[in-house]
Amino acid sequence: MSRTALVTGGSRGIGAAISVALSNAGYQVAATYAGNDAAAAAFTEQTGIKTFKWNVAEYDECAAGISKVEAEIGPVDILVNNAGITRDAPFHKMTKEQWSQVIDTNLTGVFNMTHPIWPGMRERKFGRIITISSINGQKGQFAQVNYAASKAGDLGITKSLAQEGARYGITANAVCPGYIATDMVMAVPEKVRDGIVAQIPTGRLGEPEEIARCVVFLASDDATFINGSTITANGGQHLV
Ligand code: CAA
Repeated sequence: MSRTALVTGGSRGIGAAISVALSNAGYQVAATYAGNDAAAAAFTEQTGIKTFKWNVAEYDECAAGISKVEAEIGPVDILVNNAGITRDAPFHKMTKEQWSQVIDTNLTGVFNMTHPIWPGMRERKFGRIITISSINGQKGQFAQVNYAASKAGDLGITKSLAQEGARYGITANAVCPGYIATDMVMAVPEKVRDGIVAQIPTGRLGEPEEIARCVVFLASDDATFINGSTITANGGQHLV
C-alpha cells in the first residue's frame, strides 16, 4: 500500500504544490488548512486531495486532527511541516501579539504536529519529517525578528529530531525556500518586492513547484541517507 503524507498548510501556496507533487508521486495525501474554507474546497475539487481544518498552533487540535486523518487514510509516514504565517514589522513596532502568533504557528506548530505522530513512526520504524524553513531563518530579515526566529528554530528542531529518529528509520530534513511567488510574498509592498528580486541572481521569484520537487526527493527512498540536512532553494540569493 502506498505511503501516507500529511502536509500542513497544504491547500495553498507552496503547500498546495507539495500536496499535488506528492500525490502525483503516488502517495496518499492529506492536507491541512487553518481558515480559508473556500480555497480548501476548491483545492479538493481540483485535485481530489482531502483537506482537514485545524490550527497547528493548538496542540489538542493537532492530536485530534491527526487521529482523524489516520482513521480515514492511514498512519502518517511522511509529515510535511509547511504551515506558516508572517506578521512583519520593524522590531521597534513589533507587538508581543505579532511575536507570539508567528512563534506559535511556525515554531510551536512544528512541535505540535510532530509530537503526536512521532511514537507511531518509531513503532513502525519508518518516518519522514520534512519542515519548510526559510532563507530568512538562515540570514535574518529586516522586519522579521519573529519569523526569522521561528524559521531558525525549525532548523534546530530538524537537526535534533534527525539524531533521535535515525535509529528508528526516521529522517528529519528541512527545505529553506527563498522568495517564492505565493500570496505571502505578494503581500510584500511592490517596491520592496522589486528590490528583493533584484538581489536574486536567477532574476526572478521561485515557483512553488521548485520547492515541491525538493520535498518529493526528501520523502523518497532515494534520500535514505540524508538526515538533518537543509536543502537551500533560493535562486542564489543567499549562499550557505
Ligand atoms: N533594510 C533596511 N531598511 C529597510 C528595509 C530593509 N530591508 N526595509 C525597509 N527599510 C526601511 C525603510 O526604508 C524605512 O526607512 P525610513 O524610516 O528611513 O524611511 C523603514 O525601514 C521602514 O519604516 P516604515 O515605518 O515604513 O515601516 P513599516 O512599519 O511601514 O513596515 C515593512 C514596512 C513591514 C518593513 C515593509 O517594508 C515590508 O513588508 N518589508 C518586507 C519584509 C520582508 O521581506 N518580508 C518577507 C515576507 S515573505 C516571506 O517571509 C517568505 C519567506 O520565507 C522568504
